[in-house]
Amino acid sequence: MDDIFGKQAGLFSGVEAMARRIFGVYGFNEIRTPHIEEKKLFTHALGDTTDVVQKEMYEFVDRSEESVALRPEGTAGVVRAYLENNFDKTEGHSRFFYIGPMFRRERPQKGRLRQFHQIGVEQLGTYSAFADAETLHCLAMFLDAAGVKDYKVKINNLGSFEERNAYKAVLQSYFTPLKAKLCPDCNARLTRNVFRVLDCKIPACKALCAAAPPLSDHLSEESKTHFDRVKKSLDLMRINYTEDRYMVRGLDYYTKTVFEFTHESLGAQDALAAGGRYDHLVESLGGPATGAVGFAIGVERLILCLSGPASSEPGRPALIVTLGDEAFKKGFEALSVLRRSLIPAMMDFEGKSLKSQMRYADRERSPFVLIIGDNEIQKNTVVLKDMNKGLQEELSFDAALRKLQTAYGSV
Ligand code: HAM
Repeated sequence: MDDIFGKQAGLFSGVEAMARRIFGVYGFNEIRTPHIEEKKLFTHALGDTTDVVQKEMYEFVDRSEESVALRPEGTAGVVRAYLENNFDKTEGHSRFFYIGPMFRRERPQKGRLRQFHQIGVEQLGTYSAFADAETLHCLAMFLDAAGVKDYKVKINNLGSFEERNAYKAVLQSYFTPLKAKLCPDCNARLTRNVFRVLDCKIPACKALCAAAPPLSDHLSEESKTHFDRVKKSLDLMRINYTEDRYMVRGLDYYTKTVFEFTHESLGAQDALAAGGRYDHLVESLGGPATGAVGFAIGVERLILCLSGPASSEPGRPALIVTLGDEAFKKGFEALSVLRRSLIPAMMDFEGKSLKSQMRYADRERSPFVLIIGDNEIQKNTVVLKDMNKGLQEELSFDAALRKLQTAYGSV
């Protein structure tokens, strides 16, 4: 679990602001659900044979003997909120986005944390294939706007629960003779939920999965038509994708379209975002039959994919550097004027040397420094230094203020 500060905090805020902007373009509204929910919400929604529920959930019994868990993902809570707040009765089709921490007690490694952050989107109340395509488009547009380049999109069709249940028998007859070659977890999965064998990360099991009869051979015409529509719409919206017939996803609630966005800079944990359709979840949590689709992005992983650091950080405060008592007074007055004009600004109050004040500007990654010394006091001017361009000019305070207002977009 990481403390997030300094540059990383700036990157988080930037990514979150971009999410709000792009998701607004698609008509999604923010929802904030509790970080703790009843444990049974997750066992029921995600599936009690999934790794997330079996091995990774932070769960405890609280003081009133209720079994609760820290949320390992956002979809289940959004669906619970949709029902509890009667969105199904008042709005039907609802569009939500959320931003916040999730908790999974996984083995720590690159791109894998126990408290990580997701930005996600859920559409409830639609069975349309166009909603699947629109959701994928929204994710792609967001990643483009956030500055992630060269991500790959994988899609697959998981069909309905009924089709998948029929397919489980096919998988069982394929894997049972290979039992001895499967890992101990997969041996347990063979009887409990054979579909989960396809999600095993152990190389020997993965090799056997690659030769298993594919689910696509066991899907209904309806499921296939839906998926064809999704693919045609993606073509129309110019989103490149590949089909991965063995991608099953780690959570049980998915039906029909599923997808993963990967990035090679992430290494073994290469999924940067993922999601899909989940047409039975609302009903299985006690609501009416309701089609739904969504995705979640791992914020830490997204940040790992950003090529090169953001060079200039326009939101960082300008630093007022002063030399001598008169200049300090003038600088202190200028500080209040800048802040009144909503220009982020700071200055040293400890009488530090010029060199030390300039070091402070570097440490704060200030894009601008306003310098006031004896010379400037005499001429009633200031020196404005643009730290990114390395250029400086002497001008009146009012002219400097106007330049800063333009640079910070506060005019
Ligand atoms: P998920 O694939 O479990 O799906 O997680 C989505 C993303 O969260 C992953 O692609 C990854 O970027 C990030 N993530 C997951 N676990 C960790 C971790 N331990 N450390 C860092 N990042 C992680 C879901 O959670 C679904 N709720 C997505 C969804 C929404 N499906 C429909 N609607």
